[in-house]
Amino acid sequence: MVEIIVCVGSSCHCKGSGAVIEQYQDLIRQHQLQKEVTLKASFCHQACTRGIAVSFNGRTIYHLTPESAAAAFTSEVLDQTAQSRPARPAKPTRQTRQDR
Ligand code: FES
Repeated sequence: MVEIIVCVGSSCHCKGSGAVIEQYQDLIRQHQLQKEVTLKASFCHQACTRGIAVSFNGRTIYHLTPESAAAAFTSEVLDQTAQSRPARPAKPTRQTRQDR
């Protein structure tokens, strides 16, 4: 389980934290992570000069932008959830006449 908390305080809001939240909602839906990821908003993380501040399981990343938010999602969420998921079975390969 990954908990994401995006700061929506005044400073982070002005820097685009609303766009970050929308992007994360889309990414969660796109990767079907609704049961594995909790997305929350909170007010000031006390780091306004270093916003946008986003916390992933308690570890805060600063200076996020709407442009860099997807990369943070990949490293902090997709890589983490991929490690906790069981490996998918390999797809059966199609046999050719030469293989038989
Ligand atoms: S408004 Fe986001 S850290 Fe203060």
